[in-house]
Amino acid sequence: RSYFGIDYDCNCFVKDGRPFRYISGSIHYSRVPRYYWKDRLLKMKMAGLDAIQTYVPWNYHEPQLGVYDFSGDRDLEYFLQLANDTGLLVILRAGPYICAEWDMGGLPAWLLEKKSIVLRSSDSDYLAAVEKWMGVLLPKMRPHLYQNGGPIIMVQVENEYGSYFACDYDYLRSLLKIFRQHLGDEVVLFTTDGASQFHLKCGALQGLYATVDFAPGGNVTAAFLAQRGSEPTGPLVNSEFYTGWLDHWGHRHSVVPTQTIAKTLNEILARGANVNLYMFIGGTNFAYWNGANMPYMPQPTSYDYDAPLSEAGDLTEKYFALREVIGMLPEGLIPPTTPKFAYGKVRLQKYFGFVLYRTTLPKNCTEPTQLSSPLNGVHDRAYVSVDGVPQGVLERDKSLMINITGKAGANLDILVENMGRVNFGRYNNDFKGLVSNLTLDQDTLVEWEIYPLDVDGAVNHDINGHLDRPERCVDNPQSYEAPTFYTGRLSIPGGIPDLPQDTYVKFPGWTKGQIWINGFNLGRYWPARGPQLTLFVPGNILVSSVPNNITVLELEHSPCSTQACEIEFVDKPNINATTQYENYAPQLFVRDIWLNHL
Ligand SMILES: *[C@@H]1O[C@H](CO)[C@@H](O)[C@H](O)[C@H]1NC(C)=O
Ligand SMILES: *[C@@H]1O[C@H](CO)[C@@H](O)[C@H](O)[C@H]1NC(C)=O
Ligand SMILES: *[C@@H]1O[C@H](CO)[C@@H](O)[C@H](O)[C@H]1NC(C)=O
Ligand SMILES: *[C@@H]1O[C@H](CO)[C@@H](O)[C@H](O)[C@H]1NC(C)=O
Ligand SMILES: *[C@@H]1O[C@H](CO)[C@@H](O)[C@H](O)[C@H]1NC(C)=O
Ligand SMILES: *[C@@H]1O[C@H](CO)[C@@H](O)[C@H](O)[C@H]1NC(C)=O
Ligand SMILES: *[C@@H]1O[C@H](CO)[C@@H](O)[C@H](O)[C@H]1NC(C)=O
Repeated sequence: RSYFGIDYDCNCFVKDGRPFRYISGSIHYSRVPRYYWKDRLLKMKMAGLDAIQTYVPWNYHEPQLGVYDFSGDRDLEYFLQLANDTGLLVILRAGPYICAEWDMGGLPAWLLEKKSIVLRSSDSDYLAAVEKWMGVLLPKMRPHLYQNGGPIIMVQVENEYGSYFACDYDYLRSLLKIFRQHLGDEVVLFTTDGASQFHLKCGALQGLYATVDFAPGGNVTAAFLAQRGSEPTGPLVNSEFYTGWLDHWGHRHSVVPTQTIAKTLNEILARGANVNLYMFIGGTNFAYWNGANMPYMPQPTSYDYDAPLSEAGDLTEKYFALREVIGMLPEGLIPPTTPKFAYGKVRLQKYFGFVLYRTTLPKNCTEPTQLSSPLNGVHDRAYVSVDGVPQGVLERDKSLMINITGKAGANLDILVENMGRVNFGRYNNDFKGLVSNLTLDQDTLVEWEIYPLDVDGAVNHDINGHLDRPERCVDNPQSYEAPTFYTGRLSIPGGIPDLPQDTYVKFPGWTKGQIWINGFNLGRYWPARGPQLTLFVPGNILVSSVPNNITVLELEHSPCSTQACEIEFVDKPNINATTQYENYAPQLFVRDIWLNHL
């Protein structure tokens, strides 16, 4: 029978009776279209990896309380089967919290319906929801455990819990009990924390094997000494060895040099330690799945991470260099980089605008009058208009006041965009919308009407039937316009073999918004802030039989009144543009720096 466990005498893992050391790589199935899972897994196998590591985002599978989705791109069991078929073991990071630069760290926003909930603690409502979810997830995982003939050798409980303020050992004990109840006594359960005594203090628990994470370029001896503080014997494990780093809108694209990674990886391997390369392929934050850090900084759509395989699964210099370091090269061919196609420009046409929060102006604002959010309560960005006339944008932590004009009784319309829920630290309870009062001069605005808009529903169904065409929408080339939909069609050219292929879409002259192709939500674009200028378009969402339907929701300002009303499909990504925060130094340990301020 298959066996995987820990041998505390040889300071190693044991697999089927023999000492075992793994070199693993992270891939998040939720960030790669199902169509490409096999291709990416094979490229990981061909890099010499023994295993993959993946997170399970709870909110991706239980979007509404009690409504579960494990189909299509969410078919985790199929992903595990493909990994096994490819000859890769799996290290499963089952949550419930995952961080991962994922919306609210993977926790469902519906948990916040109880306003006072203490997430990631023994809070009874939180624990009840976790218990119910794990009662759905873990029984599905059990047949995929290694001892049951599947690929899962280890299961992680929680994530970097030692970085969270609550420090609730009873919570970790409850999780341990739930995991054991569903997965049995044999599987290795583990935790991951920053490599310091400080992080391990609240992150480690008897019964969960403590592993650490640390970046290239640091002191490997010191990092593993920290792990030894919690696990005096047993295998050394770096569960997140960073091959790159995350990005934020408005900040320079993060790049980590291959030489630095190769050098530290060599040191880790020379000690016989186990390591997981985070990320091996980052992929894409499709739709609204990006998270945010505090002070409020949302992450862009690309989760390229400067990883060995690019966002689009391309083989990079880093891939080949790290493959040499890993050194155990399997037989067979590496799948080639998938070709990209420049489909060219597509003309778009204006569709309509819409509104979310509405009240009326209580007085005449003939002169510019201050509309403010004194308590910084716009979560996260508000597009303001008066009787359809665009006024400006309020933004959390950045712009808390604008001037507006309009007559008493005019409609004040405020569309509030959720730019991604905080995924790290004590600000995880990230309520969205207008979370504190707005004022006009000194007066609090009252009597709001609130219209929740099912934008994706509208895009996927009959767009015209859902919302009225605004009659008062005014073009103002100089500044901010009301949020507006644009539509267009992309026909795949005939006579060229192997189309449709992957491509990238760029937004010349556009400002900020969201794009769908054939109803698939590709994510947010924000070329005005950068550093990402192009969005990855996987070829599998395109068809060649009929024109592909493109919908763009521009929230601020389109080029349509002054330049060509076009977007363009190109064959090269650009996620590395200069931004207004060009002097911002990429900080590998930025999360820990914030931590010390909490
Ligand atoms: C997983 O792969 C192993 C061989 O690597 C095989 O023995 C086992 O039957 C596979 N399990 C499943 C569920 O396919
Ligand atoms: C690395 O850390 C170890 C243990 O703390 C220490 O002895 C050693 O001097 C450090 N090495 C460097 C290069 O700082
Ligand atoms: C606003 O101004 C109009 C004249 O332009 C006046 O008739 C009206 O009474 C004023 N309303 C308020 C609430 O001051
Ligand atoms: C708002 O208007 C006032 C008065 O005209 C002006 O002093 C102020 O600079 C304006 N503020 C902004 C943010 O435009
Ligand atoms: C908002 O203003 C209303 C009316 O002045 C007041 O009752 C309420 O307490 C305020 N809410 C907050 C969160 O300050
Ligand atoms: C695009 O929309 C048109 C009109 O609604 C429809 O006929 C066509 O099938 C759609 N194309 C795709 C790829 O769904
Ligand atoms: C991004 O730009 C920086 C500075 O221009 C450059 O050093 C780096 O190599 C670029 N990275 C990528 C992935 O293009």
